[in-house]
Amino acid sequence: MRARRFLPAGPLKGRIRVPGDKSISHRSIMLGALAVGETRVTGLLEGEDVLATAAAMRSMGAQVERTGDGAWSVHGVGVGALLQPETALDMGNSGTSTRLLMGLVASHPITATFVGDASLSKRPMGRVIDPLSTMGASFEASDGARLPLILKGASPAVPIRYRLPMASAQVKSAILLAGLNTPGITTVIEPVPTRDHSERMLRGFGADISVAIDDDGARVISIRGEAELQPQVIEVPGDPSSAAFFIVAALVVPGSEVLIENVGLNPTRSGIVEVLRQMGGSIEEVNRREVGGEPVADLMVRHSVLTGIDVDPAIVPSMVDEFPALFVAAALAQGITTTSGLDELRVKESDRIAVMAAALSAAGAHVEERADGLVITGTGGDPLPGTHAPIATHLDHRIAMAMAIAGLASRAGVEVDDTRPIATSFPMFEALLEGLNP
Ligand code: S3P
Repeated sequence: MRARRFLPAGPLKGRIRVPGDKSISHRSIMLGALAVGETRVTGLLEGEDVLATAAAMRSMGAQVERTGDGAWSVHGVGVGALLQPETALDMGNSGTSTRLLMGLVASHPITATFVGDASLSKRPMGRVIDPLSTMGASFEASDGARLPLILKGASPAVPIRYRLPMASAQVKSAILLAGLNTPGITTVIEPVPTRDHSERMLRGFGADISVAIDDDGARVISIRGEAELQPQVIEVPGDPSSAAFFIVAALVVPGSEVLIENVGLNPTRSGIVEVLRQMGGSIEEVNRREVGGEPVADLMVRHSVLTGIDVDPAIVPSMVDEFPALFVAAALAQGITTTSGLDELRVKESDRIAVMAAALSAAGAHVEERADGLVITGTGGDPLPGTHAPIATHLDHRIAMAMAIAGLASRAGVEVDDTRPIATSFPMFEALLEGLNP
């Protein structure tokens, strides 16, 4: 454990550049590992989660090498040619590595053991085991369909047409990746759109993938299997989920003015910017451009008087990882913020509804926990009282970062029990924060 107290801050001033997008970084390595030839990646997020993906792809035969700061070279083995790993695949804290790699292994003639840390070992894997079993893979999982588990892939796997029972890009991606080495056409029907990086990147690597909208408005995504992927040159845009903590910090600390460079603004990810603007946040897009096929801008964020709102549950999938940050903004806004439709937050790295309710209450915020969301009555801009005992972060990087930001806008500071999990997604977080608040 590495506890730390985050103290009240003066105005945050300056510019920062957020690290590479975690979702796109994972997929760059996985798809590069399946293309024959060299894929070169710049701006890769060198967080522990992505490094777990890199290690797993190496142990299944790909050459994955760091060539510079954020610069990586991947020599792939080709779709269908993943090798039997000799040891268990250690997924650390990373749900994305686990679920997407389960998809890849499911249609290869190999057997792999997946293990993870205490947080990951509590998370449900039935959501990928079910469809991948239908494709022919077999599983020996721990109680409750959890890690550790052993996956025996099917060769050939059977193509399926699968309607997602929950809004999950990880489940969608697991099936599409399994479909890459499955003869015929594998289809995922997505009633509620989720992040579409897999679709964009699979197309970029040359897979035959189509997206249509059916009569009910659902997205129908089909991929033709036994694909041949072409190696790519990829520039990973900055991660909006990492930017979110600095956006909220600049909005809530009086006098702040921060330019956050290189923020990915894919519409399936940018819900937090829209919601914070609805609350009155001043977030200006500067230099909108495309990076790696994704819309990106620099964001100029200025301290703002925020007002509570009812957050439309339809926007939840496009900001599913940003609720810990949003809850902090709500705790400092004027009036009441109501969130609902957040059931999926209960199965993230921690139960983010319960853990944020406890953490913000301990810091003196007014929070009511409901089954599918929080109702938060803000201070109207006054600082939160702060904590006396350390906040339990439950191995959840986003809880640690959200409560660090709450500490900046508190009287006594906020102590988090463990900052180490921050390195899973944002190793430079504390250094960047210090740079803005010398
Ligand atoms: C991710 C999808 C989301 C998100 C996670 C990354 C991805 O999970 O929470 O951080 O890269 O596909 P779900 O698909 O389970 O919602």
